Amino acid sequence: MGGDRMNIARTVMQRIDALAKISEDPNCLTRTFCSPAMRRANALVASWMREAGMIVRTDTIGNLIGHYPCKAESRNQKSKVLLFGSHLDTVRNAGKFDGPLGVFIAIACVQQLHETKTRLPFAIEVTGFADEEGVRYQSAYLGSRVLARTFDLKDLKRVDADGISMAKAIRGFGGNPRALASAKLDPKRLLGYVEVHIEQGPVLEKKNLSVGVVTAIAGQTRLCITFTGRAGHAGTTPMNLRRDALCAAAEFVLEVERFARGRPAAETGLVATVGQISALPDTSNVIPGEVVVSLDIRHAKDSVRERGVAALRKRAVQIGRRRNIKVSIGLVQQSASVSCDRNLSNLLAKSIRRYQKEAPLLASGAGHDAVAMAVITAVAMLFVRCKGGISHHPDESVRLQDVRMAVSVTTDLIQRLASEFS
Ligand code: HGY
Ligand code: MN
Ligand code: MN
Repeated sequence: MGGDRMNIARTVMQRIDALAKISEDPNCLTRTFCSPAMRRANALVASWMREAGMIVRTDTIGNLIGHYPCKAESRNQKSKVLLFGSHLDTVRNAGKFDGPLGVFIAIACVQQLHETKTRLPFAIEVTGFADEEGVRYQSAYLGSRVLARTFDLKDLKRVDADGISMAKAIRGFGGNPRALASAKLDPKRLLGYVEVHIEQGPVLEKKNLSVGVVTAIAGQTRLCITFTGRAGHAGTTPMNLRRDALCAAAEFVLEVERFARGRPAAETGLVATVGQISALPDTSNVIPGEVVVSLDIRHAKDSVRERGVAALRKRAVQIGRRRNIKVSIGLVQQSASVSCDRNLSNLLAKSIRRYQKEAPLLASGAGHDAVAMAVITAVAMLFVRCKGGISHHPDESVRLQDVRMAVSVTTDLIQRLASEFS
């Protein structure tokens, strides 16, 4: 990779573009768990990990892991490990930076070590996680939860839109759903986990700064709500005799927005989203009999999120009662808010201040694999400015000089950890 940091940043951007061409949808960027596109993505990223002098493996759930040995490694396998990573899966119609940017900046930092034949007193591992978004099975952090040994084996029974179970998908990808425990990391060996990620928000752009330190990651609850009425003939069923499931769901969707917008000062920042809706029998001349909606609720404070979840559950049931519609609510996934490690974050802030006039602190409304990794080790996150805070959208974009900044800061952090290592 060679040369100065700007060249390194250019290579990161070229790799972002190259990986963005690998999609399961010819019309937009979509790369989901254990898909053929993920296999091709892993193969491409593995080649870059090898170029950076890393030993590469794919673990049993499909995480791609590059290992850069430490100087003592040949003699002593029990070296400490500094972890970097982010995810290689995407949402549907995704932006190209959400996930891969963190993986490629980490690979770039290792490649600098490799090219200068630098060995550290600890090993470095860079992981491209197999599934952070949870698009295929509605359950996020699958890859990182396996490393943290918090994976819920019940999830293996989840089926995707084509009825393929998660266990079958893992086997089809070359993994072994029965051996997930073998992929767990040994917390005693870990120095910490650092994730570089686009901010996916407007703060850094407003401050006109390239990077910032993440203080905490908001907790999130994902529910699945089913409204069951009665399908009927659109032409012959009088309005007063209908049990229209879609009208009930529609009223609920607007109630979610009204509720989240109307929070008191102490609860500002609560966000609630209905991102998915399916209406059956999905036919224009039939009154919808069953509607299923997703509900994603988040807040930095768990107590506020939990109160919001309880309130919206109640509203769904009240709407159902008034409309003579049955309402059933299932919990899909829940993760508590996570604070980043103070020491590791302070060190990261020092690295930022070496290159930027200040090290802004900001919370993350988005979830990240750091949430899962925080169970087994200290975590820190470096946010990188992204244009307009846009994310989960093809217009997601990052400036070249901000990538260069992130490479410099991450390299400095590694050097600080190496010099402090005893
Ligand atoms: O949904 C999220 O916050 C993340 O993109 N998985
Ligand atoms: Mn992400
Ligand atoms: Mn995302």
